[in-house]
Amino acid sequence: MTPNSRFTLTRTLPANATAAALATDVTQGLTRFPKTLPPKWFYDARGSELFEQITTLPVYYPTRAEAWILQQAATGIAGITGARTLVELGSGSSYKTRLLLDALGTPLTYVPVDVSESALADAGQALLADHPGVTVHALVADFQHRLPLPRCPEPKVIAFLGGTIGNLLPAERARFLASLRTRLGPQDALLLGTDLVKDPATLVAAYDDPDGVTAAFNKNVLHVLNRELGADFDPDDFTHVAVWDSENEWIEMRLRARRALGVKLPAVDLSIDFQPGEELRTEVSAKFRRQGVRAELAAAGMRLHRWWTDPGHRFALSLALPAPVAS
Ligand code: AVJ
Repeated sequence: MTPNSRFTLTRTLPANATAAALATDVTQGLTRFPKTLPPKWFYDARGSELFEQITTLPVYYPTRAEAWILQQAATGIAGITGARTLVELGSGSSYKTRLLLDALGTPLTYVPVDVSESALADAGQALLADHPGVTVHALVADFQHRLPLPRCPEPKVIAFLGGTIGNLLPAERARFLASLRTRLGPQDALLLGTDLVKDPATLVAAYDDPDGVTAAFNKNVLHVLNRELGADFDPDDFTHVAVWDSENEWIEMRLRARRALGVKLPAVDLSIDFQPGEELRTEVSAKFRRQGVRAELAAAGMRLHRWWTDPGHRFALSLALPAPVAS
């Protein structure tokens, strides 16, 4: 078998879907008050690179904590699930993916799902070289809205790692988890990474590093709007802000206008004003507690079967199994 026959890539998004979604999100987000933008638009090539850099920062603990947990838990996950297919939502860091793949053993089908075709192609091809028993079905899809999985060997594990579920607002999370539940057969499982509530100083520091990598990541969304929509944002007109919302138990990243600004976005026919000090919310990153995760899973028809944390209880990995929907 040649390496190529073990790699297929399926596009489930129309070619212009991403551009249309960006236009809609920007129009809706910048014409409401307070202004918001969804965090998914951070991740062009530069944004993905900056995020990779964030994961190596001493203050940004989630990636290392989750990798540590996975290292401890991977064998157990393989034993409990006996999975023959690993579906991964969001093109994962190759290191964490490999921990899981290696524990699950071969033959195995790996289904990475991402909106970025280039990220999928790169990650998938790299994997094939050193994983002879793995077949890759890459899926270009916006998994928050539609997850058209190919037919794959059962049982499967759907992994959603990194704490990215925290980018969804509570109502979006409920919808998303319920839709994931519909993709699970009786023997399947969901593997979910969640960052945990902890002291606010640690949380804020993780989103406001001294080298300004997170600030550059935050401002990168303005570069994306400039390039994709012909906007004329000057990222230097904004300061990076990270705040802990103790009521909602989430971190918010914002961009604060340093002065009164007028910005044009020709591709969506918009002119937007910022008051001095006005803040644009660019990301919500929710933090969780075990009981909350358990409750959200139960409401979506899943039972929390195993819960692993790192020694500092900073991050958690949950293994959820299908269950009757709670009434
Ligand atoms: C990739 C969504 C998990 O919320 O911690 C990192 C993104 N934002 N620093 C997170 C992020 C600022 C990250 N996730």
